[in-house]
Amino acid sequence: MKSFNIAVLPGDGIGPEVMSQTLRVLQEVAPQIQTHTALIGGAAYSKYQCHFPPETQVLIEQCDAVLFGSVGGPINQANQPQWKHCEVNSILALRKQLNLAVNYRPVKFYPALHDISPLKNTILVDCDDILILRELLGDIYFGKKHTFENNGVMTAEDTASYDENQIAYIAHQAFKAASGRTGRVTSVDKANVLETSKLWRKVFNQVAQEYPDVTLNHMLVDNCAMQLILNPAQFDVIATSNLFGDILSDAASALPGSLGMMPSASFNHEGFGLYEPSGGSAPDIAGFDQANPMAQILSLAMLLRHSFAMKFEANAIETAVSKTLEQAFRTRDIAQHNCQLLGTVAFTDQILSNL
Ligand code: IPM
Ligand code: MG
Repeated sequence: MKSFNIAVLPGDGIGPEVMSQTLRVLQEVAPQIQTHTALIGGAAYSKYQCHFPPETQVLIEQCDAVLFGSVGGPINQANQPQWKHCEVNSILALRKQLNLAVNYRPVKFYPALHDISPLKNTILVDCDDILILRELLGDIYFGKKHTFENNGVMTAEDTASYDENQIAYIAHQAFKAASGRTGRVTSVDKANVLETSKLWRKVFNQVAQEYPDVTLNHMLVDNCAMQLILNPAQFDVIATSNLFGDILSDAASALPGSLGMMPSASFNHEGFGLYEPSGGSAPDIAGFDQANPMAQILSLAMLLRHSFAMKFEANAIETAVSKTLEQAFRTRDIAQHNCQLLGTVAFTDQILSNL
């Protein structure tokens, strides 16, 4: 039997706390899997004076998948060497190096949490889940950028760019994902203003011809932000560019209750995967046993399903998480009247006992 290896990169802030709980879950469902922990982000900086040390790069090359925590420090310390450019040097560099072109962010609505959603129950009735596909290597994130002085006036520039192959790849992934679901893709852009969006829309229309069973519709990003709040049930798969995907996925994550519940999976063209919570390192609550471990634990479930074809174990984790919510256990971000508020560790204890 092949033995699988996971590179575990807890990172900063709440990363190490939620990661150590996630490894307890892994130990329970698949103790045969080997894990190898390495430093990244500000945590790596303290030891190596660099955010993404060669040791970590070598380890990743030797593993079959990456389980990532989160990186970054407190906003008010953003100019300290440990945190300066930390996200760009670590997670963005890692995405680039592994060529992780597409990012999947599922938004799952749990009936047990309907009352804490910022949306009315009447809006939530038909909501089950939405899948957000985000392009991860292009757009304004990775285009040319610089800051310069022009006649004594400071000016900054970021360039957004996409080629048709990058867009076509995302379109194919979106249509494939939708055909295994209810068959609807909403491609989100800003084609009334941006050149990149006009090309995006054109390529999506072309690729759509190859998927006659899937319905494609286009939506402008500002309207999409509004529609997510007014009528989220209309969406099945949302496919969008890097920056719009970053923003819309945070907004969408709050609809079922909290960003702390949203996992994600990113892949390169060969199917190598990196799995990470969609949220950040939350330095304000780090170290207080308050973080919701769901996003990290559900990222592990995605890893087992997609990288190791361990559907049974993945389903078991997801079911145990849902059950824990149904039993009215909550972390602070999803705290609710008449429910029992637990810390990160005790909440994971409940998930483990439901496995
Ligand atoms: C995310 C995060 C990252 C991003 C940050 C940490 C650079 O917000 O994964 O959504 O913008 O992609
Ligand atoms: Mg984000």
